[in-house]
Amino acid sequence: MNNTQKRSNFSGKLGFVLAAAGSAVGLGNMWRFPYLAAKHGGGIFLLVYLILAVTFGFGLMITEIAIGRKTGLSAIEAYGKLNKKFKFLGYLSAIVPIIILPYYCVIGGWVMKYFGVFVSGAGHKAAADGFFGGFVSKASEPLLWFALFLGLTALVVLLGVDKGIEKVSKIMMPVLVLLSIGIAVFSMTRPGAMEGVKYYILPDFENFSVVTVLSAMGQLFYSMSLAMGIMITYGSYMKKDVNLESSVRHIEIFDTGIAFLAGLMIIPPLFSSAATPEQLDGLLKSGPSLMFVSLPKVFDGMTGVTGDIIGSVFFLLVIFAALTSSISLMEAIVSIIHDKFHIGRKACCFVTLGISIILGVPSSLGFGVLSFINPLGTAGGSILDFFDFVSNNILMPIVALLTCILVGYVIKTKTVSDEVELNGKFKGKKLFEVVVKYIAPVCIVAILVFSVLDVFFKLS
Ligand code: TRP
Repeated sequence: MNNTQKRSNFSGKLGFVLAAAGSAVGLGNMWRFPYLAAKHGGGIFLLVYLILAVTFGFGLMITEIAIGRKTGLSAIEAYGKLNKKFKFLGYLSAIVPIIILPYYCVIGGWVMKYFGVFVSGAGHKAAADGFFGGFVSKASEPLLWFALFLGLTALVVLLGVDKGIEKVSKIMMPVLVLLSIGIAVFSMTRPGAMEGVKYYILPDFENFSVVTVLSAMGQLFYSMSLAMGIMITYGSYMKKDVNLESSVRHIEIFDTGIAFLAGLMIIPPLFSSAATPEQLDGLLKSGPSLMFVSLPKVFDGMTGVTGDIIGSVFFLLVIFAALTSSISLMEAIVSIIHDKFHIGRKACCFVTLGISIILGVPSSLGFGVLSFINPLGTAGGSILDFFDFVSNNILMPIVALLTCILVGYVIKTKTVSDEVELNGKFKGKKLFEVVVKYIAPVCIVAILVFSVLDVFFKLS
């Protein structure tokens, strides 16, 4: 297992930050963050998220990248190398991308469908009430888009052309940011939208609940690709002379900035389109469908064909952001299977594809034929929501907790801070130590207990 030598390195800090940001920025930012923020109290969710990002997010990302760079190994082996007893943690973290990829591709398929609708000039249809619900409750069409997105992901992984995709996305990402700023400004200036901006930005402590914190934490892990071993692998490719701490800061700022913008695009228009407070409440609570319900209305509000053009460009960029993420998710799974079972890469791709179809098909059908299955027991708790919940709100917190215990108490925080200090002073060292040893473990345990109890006893 001397793959340490074989590892190619990122060329420098910019290369590393861009690659890690490419993995981090995806549907999590554009699709998941806005609907959670809308659902869990707007400003208060944003505030909790930001606090968690600069504490939890910072501590965990530093930890994972440092572990990767120190060991030069991917997650499965890295944990075992640090401490034999923690080898299982590598496996546990490996389950997460396997659960995420299938439903990620379902959503990716939806984005493709919307691109198709806009590019064919039918954007106004997508803006009509009930369009989204009508689409996802069908059986074959969403499945077809899912297959297309998954197939495309698998093709790139199989052919190994992800480097080419990465180059393209380096151009597309900045365009996505600029376009998002433009759309956000447009959204915010719609009549009545200012109320929405206030809802999104000003924290209202009445909306605070433990669920807010739980969801914000799950979102943080998801959005920054933490607690699933991915950042360990990225760290293993990082050169020793690249400044680890400032890289982490940059990835965080980039990722959070895009999520924030997405919220500004998607939430304010709800306030301008809702006719009654009840309708508004319903819209805010829409969940996974939010982006697909809100944005078409924004584009529809633009004059003439502008909406169709901007809508097409926008959804195309989101497809790219989602593809770079799904490719890196699939890569991660393929290399896990490859490392573990020593079968060829192609075979690993097909195994991954098979698992993704098995888990993805029910997720897709869960909004139509299989909508009677509500594993979470709540209305709207579809199969897709279930996979999302299990990975983000249960498995990832457990992985994060065990990582904190490993670093805080077994191998000690010094192991990580020494690695960070290879590049000079570790400015956030105290913060990192306190987060990893005390704050994170206590909060995660509290929140895990609550969330499990919540499923069974409906506390919230
Ligand atoms: N962070 C990605 C997003 O925001 C999703 C994601 C989760 C991911 N885990 C990942 C991407 C692992 C690549 C690798 O959409």
